[in-house]
Amino acid sequence: MTHAHITTWVLGAILFFVALSMYKGGNEKGAKITHMILRVFYLLILATGFMLLFSINIDLLYILKAAVGLWIIAIMEFILMKTGKREQTKVLWIQFAIAFILVLLLGFSLPMGFDWF
Ligand code: HEM
Repeated sequence: MTHAHITTWVLGAILFFVALSMYKGGNEKGAKITHMILRVFYLLILATGFMLLFSINIDLLYILKAAVGLWIIAIMEFILMKTGKREQTKVLWIQFAIAFILVLLLGFSLPMGFDWF
């Protein structure tokens, strides 16, 4: 299940950057379609994340990991929305960087799957 979880968020991250560059390049139609596929991946990330979460005795660090995961998904959605509307996204990008580092540190230091940190 950790592999499924990693696969979904890596693909989600790729789709996010593809949609972002399409919004920036003015390719509205391509961006909208990629954005919709990305939203399906949000659900897959959530589903695999919650399956991991409920497969163990949940403690505080896991709750924190899940919360940061949810936070990133919200940030990605806001960045795409605002980029599409040509609004400022600087604060969101700062949050994205912090949340992404946090989620990798937490995810890979928690006991399931790979244990790199
Ligand atoms: C874009 C969002 C997300 C990213 C980048 C992400 C990243 C990661 C990473 C890197 C791991 C470690 C995998 C491993 O150790 O092999 C992981 C594990 C996990 N994730 Fe996520 N995740 C995201 C969203 C979520 C969400 C929304 C939830 C819960 C609702 C969640 C729950 C979990 C759980 C419970 C684990 C197992 C922790 C462990 O290794 O023991 N994740 N995630």
